[in-house]
Amino acid sequence: MAREITPLVAGNWKMNGTGAALAEVSKLAAKLSEGSGPNCTVVICPPATLLDRLSKAASGTAILSGGQDCHPALNGAHTGDISAQMLADAGARYVIVGHSERRANHAETDELVRRKAEAALAAGLIPIICVGETEAERRGGIADAVVATQLEGSVPDQWSDFGIVIAYEPIWAIGTGLTPTIADIAEMHDGIRALLLKRFADRGEAVQLLYGGSMKPANAADILKVQNVNGGLVGGASLLANDFHAIISAA
Ligand code: 13P
Repeated sequence: MAREITPLVAGNWKMNGTGAALAEVSKLAAKLSEGSGPNCTVVICPPATLLDRLSKAASGTAILSGGQDCHPALNGAHTGDISAQMLADAGARYVIVGHSERRANHAETDELVRRKAEAALAAGLIPIICVGETEAERRGGIADAVVATQLEGSVPDQWSDFGIVIAYEPIWAIGTGLTPTIADIAEMHDGIRALLLKRFADRGEAVQLLYGGSMKPANAADILKVQNVNGGLVGGASLLANDFHAIISAA
């Protein structure tokens, strides 16, 4: 890499956590305040119901907060949805868009994900744009092509100075305990970087590329060592301060 990229480790709590879970945030903040602090940016994306409380609890600590999804519109008649501006108002700095669980459960297309990313940028948030193939697509030898198509359709043409983040999450690795080989992760991340450089020239060089899917304290160091892996998007292991801290320490 021509440019030094600050790693980012983001926790995606998914549909887990009530007020009691904020104790884990305080515990993590205390651990992160030891020594010279973390070498990476640390983000937690809790359920929307906890975002305001978590943002306040994390204020003044090394932890930033983010949403797990946003609606592409600024406001309006969209019952149950949340706009990017609302997330920002609740203290978020980041928002995950296009997570495979949203793509699968809510039939989100690349075009919708791109519009969500654009809405996030317009609200001053950094979108964490997720891509990744299914097990059948990997076995069929089309993982690279699937991810390339998702990137082409989901990543906006323009972004602000805050930037964007890309998370590669092979769907078959999410919550399964399975991970691709280090060589496969390296190949995919190199490919994503090459596509970003081709489309965005120098701007593509600084984009943080996260790996996600069964990242744990036991495998984080090996995965985070890979060139063009600039951090992780962590599900299950982000729920407990000790596990998440171990992954952050590996970054
Ligand atoms: P797990 O770390 O639980 O596999 O989840 C990964 C993920 O989907 C993060 O967005």
